[in-house]
Amino acid sequence: MEFNVKHGAAETIKTGCLVVSINEARTLTGTAAHLDGICGGQISAAVKRGDITGKPGQTLMLFALPGISAERVLLIGSGKKPALGDRDYRKLLQKTVATLKDGGATDAVLTFSELSVQGRDLYARTRLAVETIRENLYQFDQFKSKKADKPRLKKCALWSADKADAAALKQAIAHGQAISDGTDLTRDLGNLPGNVCTPTYLAKEAKALAKQFKGTEVEVLEEKDMKALGMGSLLSVSAGSAEPAKLIRLSYQGTDASAQPHVLVGKGITFDTGGISLKPGSGMDEMKYDMCGAATVLGVFKAVVSLQLPINLTILVASAENMPSGTATKPGDIVTSMSGQTIEILNTDAEGRLVLCDALTYAERFKPASVVDIATLTGACIVALGSHTTGVLGNDDVLVDQLLNAGKQADDRGWQLPLFDEYQEQLDSPFADIANIGGPKAGTITAACFLSRFTKAYPWAHLDIAGTAWISGGKDKGATGRPVPLLTQYLLNQVQG
Ligand code: BES
Ligand code: MN
Ligand code: ZN
Repeated sequence: MEFNVKHGAAETIKTGCLVVSINEARTLTGTAAHLDGICGGQISAAVKRGDITGKPGQTLMLFALPGISAERVLLIGSGKKPALGDRDYRKLLQKTVATLKDGGATDAVLTFSELSVQGRDLYARTRLAVETIRENLYQFDQFKSKKADKPRLKKCALWSADKADAAALKQAIAHGQAISDGTDLTRDLGNLPGNVCTPTYLAKEAKALAKQFKGTEVEVLEEKDMKALGMGSLLSVSAGSAEPAKLIRLSYQGTDASAQPHVLVGKGITFDTGGISLKPGSGMDEMKYDMCGAATVLGVFKAVVSLQLPINLTILVASAENMPSGTATKPGDIVTSMSGQTIEILNTDAEGRLVLCDALTYAERFKPASVVDIATLTGACIVALGSHTTGVLGNDDVLVDQLLNAGKQADDRGWQLPLFDEYQEQLDSPFADIANIGGPKAGTITAACFLSRFTKAYPWAHLDIAGTAWISGGKDKGATGRPVPLLTQYLLNQVQG
């Protein structure tokens, strides 16, 4: 979808469809009132007839209004509230996209710059609009013989009467498009089946990204390299699989080489059977999304690099397939991590932390400004926060607050869970330095406690995206692309703040 900016009197805009909001107050305001005056009262007449009252999500398409250059005018209800919340605003956009998608227009002009949304300036409203439109146009039909129809709508202009708004609108479009391109990549990777999206596939994807963008560098560590580095924990996860593990690094230099990089580490389990601690069969297909942390960091990388942000960014993808077999790791096995700490693997299904811990130790060598890991780490996080909110934990309150704030700004929210010392004891092992599970209580926290043993050298935070990365079951099943918006916002703030 192409987005651009339009100014000038609404009635003069040449477009397939001019989209105008009308609120539930009896009298028209803003652009609706202005156009009504020009077309001889046809809009107010429609309201009077009851064809549209302005209720949220109501739509009415009007054709060939006198004095108005647009071929169609789509009226859309914005409700009663003087300022919309993010959710109402997104619903309104969703409805707009659904209507335009099925309609005849190949381009549209949106006049939503005149809507007020609580706590959102023009830039934020516009960016949210771009992202919401893109989100609702996303399709994944690679494996369907019969592809979904392509929407006729190809171009969307964002209108504001005032030319002085141009800079804010243009920046919002650029940022929104980059974030959406990243999110789409993350969704595609998350939706790919485990027989296609293997650790080797992710490595290829990373190499392709490095080829596409200047200023980037890619490195793929093979199992023999990881063995030489002492990554016994990561390798214990791929031990049962025919697919070799990969540790992938992509670096982007957007500023002085001396500036410390921001490091993002993604969990890339391309399929999680649970290993010898086998998961139950029902719904196991969804464990192809256990690489969404990896998909997220690749998506964020794409967004940041395409915007050429003046920061240094390194992403690490710790990728393996977790399978049971004669060579698989068994409960009770003890392995030595790259950090030197020994781990008693009491449950082979707690494998995410096992691949992440070695990647987190490896991250030290990049002298990071901060490290954030992103992982579909625990079912317990879905119990605690459901699918709306990402779990956030960390050893540095400044970093945690930056992530929480970025989530609010990007409407991709997280919520902090505690990482108090008291929880650490749950990981005590009689045989090794640490156990890989901490019992039934506070599963998300003890998983983060495990990671915290490997992140003492830098400010670190952990995002548990088991709930937010994926929509389960039902017809809307699939990857969401979250938290690409949160993380890209966090990195945008490193530039601006
Ligand atoms: N990938 C899962 C976590 C998960 C579960 C993500 C459901 C999304 C939906 C992770 O590897 C896992 O299996 N975690 C275990 C940990 C337990 C064995 C301590 C879990 O959450 O049950
Ligand atoms: Mn698991
Ligand atoms: Zn897993």
